[in-house]
Amino acid sequence: MPHPQTIVILTGAGISAESGIATFRGPGGLWEGHRVEDVCTPAALAADPVLVHRFYDARRAALGGVVPNAAHAALARLDAGWRGELLIVTQNVDDLHERAGTRRLLHMHGELRSALCAACGSRGPHDGPLPPGSVCGGCGAGAVRPDIVFFGEMPYAMERIEAALATADLFVSIGTSGAVYPAAGFVQTARAHGAATLELNLARSAGSGWFDESRLGAAGALVPDWVDSLLAVQPLP
Ligand code: APR
Repeated sequence: MPHPQTIVILTGAGISAESGIATFRGPGGLWEGHRVEDVCTPAALAADPVLVHRFYDARRAALGGVVPNAAHAALARLDAGWRGELLIVTQNVDDLHERAGTRRLLHMHGELRSALCAACGSRGPHDGPLPPGSVCGGCGAGAVRPDIVFFGEMPYAMERIEAALATADLFVSIGTSGAVYPAAGFVQTARAHGAATLELNLARSAGSGWFDESRLGAAGALVPDWVDSLLAVQPLP
């Protein structure tokens, strides 16, 4: 692979697996007996807000018991040290990338420690339980919900992500099954614009065939090695 200047990294649930956060698909991929597709929809929220809010309250509370792992730490090291352009796009709603110290980060599927007013669209930090009907401090509507992008809703920051993919010369996917679009299509967009593409994942994914190279293994082992090799060839100041 030629030496890159401009890098886009996509992360998924696999990067947080070694921190003890369950992935969505694969063994143990059911969350408390709920298929994620049955809870993460606007229709589910309308039909049973108590269930959906309780589900995310539990996920939010669980963040208190986990810490970033070696893969999060390595990406934070890359963010701090990489002199070229870098954007880390995560599908994860946990806060382990930022707790590791990563700053050039976008949460395309929302954040557990954030709340969204369904009436006025304002978003802001939130911790602790979020009961259905919570009142928005901005507009006063009792319409505050978890700030999670549900199936059928538009992910955040797509324009910025598409622009970054169009100029990237390296696209790297870490710990994602490639099952959910639009993120699953990022590799194709980056390729179409001429980027080299690398996958770091425990097992082959639905998108493996699109990557120039797939390295199979645990993120906690693969990502630090890859970051070391990249920092060794980074662009001159
Ligand atoms: N290291 C690297 N990869 C791992 C590890 C690990 N330790 N453990 C698991 N994986 C891989 C699995 O092999 C799988 O390919 O991580 C991937 C996790 O896939 P999913 O559970 O489907 O998670 P993700 O791709 O992030 O899901 C995408 O689906 O439900 C939605 O919105 C939710 O953002 C999520 C989206």
